[in-house]
Amino acid sequence: MTPHKVATTPIEGQKPGTSGLRKKTQVFMQPHYLENYIQATWNGIGGVEGKTLVLGGDGRHFNDRAAQVVLRMAAAGGAAKVIVGQNALLSTPAASHLIRKNKANGGIILSASHNPGGPDGDFGVKYNVSNGGPAPENVTKKIFKATQKIEKYHIVESQDVDLGTIGETSLGDMVIEVVDPVADYRDLMAELFDFDAIKALFADGFRVRFDAMHAITGPYASAILEDTLGAPKGSVVNATPLPDFGQGHPDPNPIWAKDLMDTMFADEAPDFGAASDGDGDRNMIVGRGIYVTPSDSLAAIAANAKLIPTYAKDMRGVARSMPTSRALDRVAEHLGIDCYETPTGWKFFGNLLDAGAASLCGEESAGTGSDHVREKDGLWAVLFWLNVLAVRKQSVAELMKEHWQTFGRNYYSRHDYEAVDAEAAQKLVDDLRDRLESLPGQDFAGLTVETADEFAYDDPVDGSRSEGQGLRIILSDGARIVLRLSGTGTEGATLRVYLERVETDPARLHDDPQDALASVIAAADAIAGINDRTGRDAPDVIT
Ligand code: G1P
Ligand code: ZN
Repeated sequence: MTPHKVATTPIEGQKPGTSGLRKKTQVFMQPHYLENYIQATWNGIGGVEGKTLVLGGDGRHFNDRAAQVVLRMAAAGGAAKVIVGQNALLSTPAASHLIRKNKANGGIILSASHNPGGPDGDFGVKYNVSNGGPAPENVTKKIFKATQKIEKYHIVESQDVDLGTIGETSLGDMVIEVVDPVADYRDLMAELFDFDAIKALFADGFRVRFDAMHAITGPYASAILEDTLGAPKGSVVNATPLPDFGQGHPDPNPIWAKDLMDTMFADEAPDFGAASDGDGDRNMIVGRGIYVTPSDSLAAIAANAKLIPTYAKDMRGVARSMPTSRALDRVAEHLGIDCYETPTGWKFFGNLLDAGAASLCGEESAGTGSDHVREKDGLWAVLFWLNVLAVRKQSVAELMKEHWQTFGRNYYSRHDYEAVDAEAAQKLVDDLRDRLESLPGQDFAGLTVETADEFAYDDPVDGSRSEGQGLRIILSDGARIVLRLSGTGTEGATLRVYLERVETDPARLHDDPQDALASVIAAADAIAGINDRTGRDAPDVIT
C-alpha cells in the first residue's frame, strides 16, 4: 500500500488553546477536511510511527466514516496498533480508561460532546494524550500550528475495516483490535464502587431513571445499572445511541433533559434521576422533587467520599474550575484538604490528578470526575451518588438538606447569552476588563464590590501560566459574579454569566435559586450592561 499525498483545503477556526476541533458536520464532511485535521494532529504530536492509539466516538452522524479515515491515516503514518471500540463507539471516559489501561500513546475521540449531531449538527475530533486526558496546551498549540501550514496528508487506500466484530484484524502492517466498548469500563466501576450495596438498594425497590438522551451512555448504563446491578429493565430510557440523538440536544441540564425533570417532579417520581451527554462525560443528578446543581453535586460527592472505601482510603485534595460555585471550598475546609481553583476546561485538572494533588474535581457545567480516568465521567458520578445513597439510606432531598445545614448553601446559577454578535460580546468583556480596577468599593443593587480581577492560573505542577480566564467580581454578602466568553460555541459568541451567593443561616434557605440571586443578577447587569450590549432582555439558557 502506497501512502497518498493529496492537495488540501484550509482548516479554519481552531483556537490555539482548545483541545480538538469542533465544527458543523457538513464542514468536517468537505473533501479532505477531516484528513487535513488528522494529519495536522499527527504532525503536531510528532507523528504516529510505532505508536499505539485508541479510537472511538459517540456515534453521531459521520462517526463511522471518520473512524475509517483515522484508521487509514494511522496506518499511513506507521502506527503499530489502534484499539477501537466496536462499531467505532466509545464514551469519552471509556476512551480515557482504555488509553491508560493499555498504556497507549494517545487516542482520537470523535465527538462534539453535548452539541446536537446529525448532518446539520456538529462534529468534532479530539486528541487525548498518554495519561488519558485531553492534550495539554503545549500539544494543542503545536497541533494548531500544524493546521496552519499543512500542505499534504498521507492515507492508505483500502476497503473499510470491519469494526462490527470484536477481535484482532489489521490494515497493512498496523494491528487493529476491536474491543467491547463497555466491558473494561464496567470492570473499572466495579473496582471503584460497592456494587453489592447498590444491588441491595435496587433489590429493596429503590427506583432509578437514567436518561441516556439517545447518546453514547445508553449501552453503558443498560449494562451497568440494569444488567449488572439489577435495576429493572426500562430504568434506562432513550438508551439506543442515534446518529442525530433523536433530533435532541444531548446536554444534561433541566432545559434539555426536561422529560427527566418532569418525571422527577411528578407524583410517583422515581427515587433518583440522572442523565448524561452525547459523549458520556457530563452528568445531571436529580432527586424526587429536587434538582442538584453540578456545583452542589461536586460538593456533596466530596463531603461523602468518606463513605466509599476507594476514596476514603486516600483522599487528596479537590479541584474546581473557577466559575464553579465555592460550595466545594467549604467542604474542603471542613475536611482539612486543599481546594484548587483552575481555569474552565477539563485539561487543567490533569496535572493535579497526575501529581496526586487532587482526587476529585468538577465543573459547574455538569462535569465531575476523579483520578480514575483523565476526563470527566457522567456514569461515574451517577454511581457515586447511588453508592452514597445506598450507604446513607436517605433521599437526595434529605441528603442535600443536611449538606446545606452543615456547610451553608451556595445559591448558584449560570446565565448564557447565545449566538450574540461576536464583536459586541468581545467589547462587553474588554470594556469591563478596563473598568475592573475602579469597581471595588462601588455599590450595585445593594451589594458592594470587594475585589475585581481577571483570573489567571499558575499551574502548581508544571509552572505554566494561563491568562485571560474570566472576569471575577467578588461582592458583599458572599456574592460573586463571573463573566467569560465560551470557548466551545460554534455560532457567534456565547457570553456566560455565573452568579453565586452564600447563605449560611439555615433559617433563610430559599426554594428558588433565581429568587435568592435576584440582587446578584441585578448587580451583574448594572456592572456589565449585559442587556443593553447583547440586545437581549433575558438570557437564552438559565442553568
Ligand atoms: C464548556 C463548559 C466547560 C467545559 C467545556 C467542555 O466550555 O463551560 O466547563 O469544560 O464546555 O465540555 P465553554 O463553552 O464555557 O468554553
Ligand atoms: Zn461531553
